[in-house]
Amino acid sequence: MQSLRSLAQLSRISAAAGRIRVIVPEIPSLGPSLLPRWRAVAKHNVINRLHRHSNLHISSALRRSSETEGQTEGPLWKTPRTMPMDKYEYDLRPVFATATMAACHGGVSKKRMLTRGSCPTTDNKVVFCTGGAGSICSAQVRAMVHLGANACIIGRNVEKTENMAKDIATARKGAKVLGLGAVDVRKPEALVAAAERCAKELGSIDFVIAGAAGNFLATIDQLSPNALKSVMDIDVLGSYNTVKATLPYLVESANKYKVDGKTRPKAGTGGRIIFVSATLHYSGTPLQSHVSIAKAGVDAMSVSVAIEQGPKGITSNVIAPGPIADTEGMARLATDASRKETPRLIPSQRMGYVKEIADATIYLFSDAGNFVNGETIVVDGGQWHTQAVDKGAFKYPDFLLSGETVSGVAGMKKSKL
Ligand code: COA
Repeated sequence: MQSLRSLAQLSRISAAAGRIRVIVPEIPSLGPSLLPRWRAVAKHNVINRLHRHSNLHISSALRRSSETEGQTEGPLWKTPRTMPMDKYEYDLRPVFATATMAACHGGVSKKRMLTRGSCPTTDNKVVFCTGGAGSICSAQVRAMVHLGANACIIGRNVEKTENMAKDIATARKGAKVLGLGAVDVRKPEALVAAAERCAKELGSIDFVIAGAAGNFLATIDQLSPNALKSVMDIDVLGSYNTVKATLPYLVESANKYKVDGKTRPKAGTGGRIIFVSATLHYSGTPLQSHVSIAKAGVDAMSVSVAIEQGPKGITSNVIAPGPIADTEGMARLATDASRKETPRLIPSQRMGYVKEIADATIYLFSDAGNFVNGETIVVDGGQWHTQAVDKGAFKYPDFLLSGETVSGVAGMKKSKL
């Protein structure tokens, strides 16, 4: 390695016909196994020198080409970067705007765009969301619409879906939000028709949120086959039907809005799907076997979509909300006692808000979430990690906060004090 470094001092820069090249002396005696490593080290060395003594712009361009080579050749994986970063690599200010409204870059000043939070230059990105009239999904869509997207929300109840669409549209002047009611995610043909209508009326489908879900509280022995089937059909088949109906549009969008992680995508991102799941099945939850089984399937589906469609530019991820305040789920499923008790069992000591699910959504759909694929983002204040606490006498978090040591069990540690 040392000798390669000193040999690398012999390499030089050539600038001709507007192109800059690093000329690396050939050393045939190195043999085929060492030659690629030699070329990479030599090139890196030149770029370092150039950076120290010369024009940063030129060295950045060279570094970029050198790193791209490193991705396929291998040796640069082991060479830590010594260069300053390009602005794109650390400047996140425009990211959440570019997620949906890249056209703003040419349309308004960055300052105006960031302070207004909306953009007069519509860029026609479209969100397609099932369960979009619900408390969580409507917040996800509203945040996207506020940033510049248009949307189609899908629901079973016509009035509820249409009213919610009108309400979401108030998040940004000029926003187009279609409320497509009477669509049951269990019916594939209904979803295909909804996706067709959405793309036809709004121009595309760039982001999908598969959020429609069914839930109630019952033990497994209280469930009829049809009860389990209903939840499986809504959550698992419904998510699958959503994927099938929207995938062609997502692939088109991913092709149009390519990202490489190195340069700011001029027209933002596209071709992304988020499944709204749960944490119930991580450690097991009584009265929720049907949903646990279904959400485990949804999680697996998201990974499959990531693996199979990722090479086409699609990203597929799961958001798993914990207990979120003021939602339909809480209203339908929580008792007064559990609503009161739940915050104590959450490490963050409170319930979440729909805004916090929307935040994760924007992250995954934005240029900041480019390399997150086949993953689950749990937004629960750490709750699922404590699903097993309070099983004994050590009340959470009172016992931890008291500073007491464990007593009353056989396996206690003997004090050395
Ligand atoms: N306990 C046990 N079984 C129940 C139940 C409960 N609380 N609620 C419904 N079921 C059973 C029904 O008895 C029926 O089974 P059966 O035919 O053997 O009697 C089966 O589930 C289907 O019920 P049905 O009301 O006909 O289905 P639906 O398609 O109209 O509704 C649900 C689907 C059951 C999932 C319903 O809870 C729903 O519509 N949920 C949507 C809203 C929602 O849950 N959002 C999620 C918030 S977290």
